[in-house]
Amino acid sequence: MYKGILLAGGTGSRLFPLTKVFSKQLLPIYDKPMIYYPLSTFMLFGIRDILIISTPSDTPHIKDLLRNGRQLGLNIEYKIQEAPRGIAEAFIIGKDFIENDDVCLILGDNIFYMSDQVKDFQEKIAKNTGAVICGYHVPDPERFGVIEFDENDKLLSLEEKPLNPKSNFAAVGLYFYKNDVIKKAAKLRPSARGELEITDINLEYLHENRLQAMRMCRGTAWIDAGTPDSLMDAAQFVQMIEKRQGLKLSCIEELALNLGFISLDQFEKLILPFPDSSDYKKYLQKILLEKSCA
Ligand code: TTP
Repeated sequence: MYKGILLAGGTGSRLFPLTKVFSKQLLPIYDKPMIYYPLSTFMLFGIRDILIISTPSDTPHIKDLLRNGRQLGLNIEYKIQEAPRGIAEAFIIGKDFIENDDVCLILGDNIFYMSDQVKDFQEKIAKNTGAVICGYHVPDPERFGVIEFDENDKLLSLEEKPLNPKSNFAAVGLYFYKNDVIKKAAKLRPSARGELEITDINLEYLHENRLQAMRMCRGTAWIDAGTPDSLMDAAQFVQMIEKRQGLKLSCIEELALNLGFISLDQFEKLILPFPDSSDYKKYLQKILLEKSCA
């Protein structure tokens, strides 16, 4: 079973001044805080042991919101990253949490809408011999880490922001690693921009022929909500789907119930203190009524 690390620190400089006093990962994506989306991605993968890493100033707020996770049938722990020294530092900070398990890393500002493809991912990661990274088809690959595949989906290359991209598949903020990622992270040296780079870890797995990639299929969505425009895109995407279907995306209480992480009784107690005036509570009360009558 994979443990999960949700990386929710960073500087959020592209979202300044929104992020001057407030954590990026707590900014709203339509009707809920951003961090609910990566958290629900973990839940959909069945990952219930979760470490959230954030900044000294943001961690207390995230803790206030999600507590120890038991109310959702999760175990949530917290660790502080003193300075944004790079994504790969997650495995150094998270070493004691990971122990001897394998680990999935998700970036706290990455929003995934995968529907049925989660099952394909689960099959792939069950056979993981090193690392599995995920590729999403984008129109502007030169802005991202670019994954090149052969006709059998074998990963051929991984290039950071190439001038001449070999494919349209960008590497996104969701990664699955065997336990030896801890050793690889411990040996990393900071890059020219002074960060411990996740790409350097992935390239090591590639050189060892232990790196696989999953293509997110047509009809899925990936949004890196780190700029004002993409934050707005994410909110509009969620609003559109929720309004059309009358169903919420990444509603963590509903997910916990549907996935069997909590009982109907626990669900009822959990939502009781939510304010009656919120549409969020009305939605959850409707679910409670439907399930009670079923
Ligand atoms: P980025 O979006 O690359 O960086 P950032 O959040 O600091 O934003 P900006 O570039 O606008 O200054 O980070 C991706 C995710 O990883 C985001 O959720 C923050 C997180 N992160 C950390 O928690 N620690 C780090 O050291 C880095 C680099 C990122």
